[in-house]
Amino acid sequence: MFLRNYWYVAASDHEIGRKPFRRVIMNEPVVFYRTEDGTPVGLEDRCPHRRLPLSMGKLVGDDVIQCHYHGLRFDRTGACVRVPGQDMIPPTARVKSYPLVERYKWLWIWMGDPALADPAKIPDYHWFDDPNWGAKSDYIHAQCNWQLVNDNLLDLTHLAFVHETTIGNMALVEHAAVRVNRTPGGVQVTRWTIDQPAPPAFVKLGGFTGNVDRWQIIDYMPPSYIRLDVGATPTGTGAPEGRRVGGIQMRNLNVMTPETETTTHYFWGQAHDFEPRNKDMTERVFAQIKTAFMEDVSVFTNQQQNIELDPDAPQIDINADSGGIQARRIVDRLYAEEQAAMNAAKTAAE
Ligand code: FES
Ligand SMILES: [Fe+2]
Repeated sequence: MFLRNYWYVAASDHEIGRKPFRRVIMNEPVVFYRTEDGTPVGLEDRCPHRRLPLSMGKLVGDDVIQCHYHGLRFDRTGACVRVPGQDMIPPTARVKSYPLVERYKWLWIWMGDPALADPAKIPDYHWFDDPNWGAKSDYIHAQCNWQLVNDNLLDLTHLAFVHETTIGNMALVEHAAVRVNRTPGGVQVTRWTIDQPAPPAFVKLGGFTGNVDRWQIIDYMPPSYIRLDVGATPTGTGAPEGRRVGGIQMRNLNVMTPETETTTHYFWGQAHDFEPRNKDMTERVFAQIKTAFMEDVSVFTNQQQNIELDPDAPQIDINADSGGIQARRIVDRLYAEEQAAMNAAKTAAE
């Protein structure tokens, strides 16, 4: 199940250059490259002649890609502009061209109806560009369905178990005050852990010596935009009332782009407000969180294997699932709406 009429992160900006680059998104092969002035191009990565990936070919001139097999050429709009050995270009010789926008050091792609591709709908990930924050992002090729990552990020009780040596501790499960709210279009899960020990990574990064008040505010917007506002201040200094002083704040920023039903392009990054221009600090923060994220990847991969063995095996829900369940309900509803709209458009065209 994929939601099409949304912006997804297709690549980090540095991945795309003058060498054709292939990535499968929602079961569709896409080839990316840049024109000579740096404008990104995204075309269907399947030659309409004999279906070879165009990414095996090469760029000829500014924006034209030439198929490796029999040399058909396509421009940035996807139109065939040359068939070697004949003057006549078949009118159906074209590949799909995808709307792209470069923002927040990511390349965003629109997989749905191009007429609806409004760049204003790209969610806010400004922390990657904001001089008041240090930030670094990364890519994980996760062997699991995209919604397993949504579930994981919306339930932070797992930190106590999966991440007990990094960003978790038992205080998060046993002493957190949790609220789950609907937001316009999404879900927000708020967890406050008051007057409890800081987890190992926070002690390392924030230098806390005593107990802390820690917040985790998870903001989910469909289909798979998840931004976490996390941090801690020395206990009793007023963070729950909005005074965030003397501690550390971070943002954990995620977009899950489905590759197939069972694999995901997982783009994530971490931003920090302390010593924002200190590159070593950015690397240290990033390394701490990356260690934790690799612990999650092992969870998703193993869940996915079991799910594929028996997709109908029963599962139970616990209180901690509340945010994830609400997110799945939103996705189910939007999927039904998208399918109904597509079917109505098809019927109207017939
Ligand atoms: S397969 Fe591309 S030119 Fe023949
Ligand atoms: Fe995790």
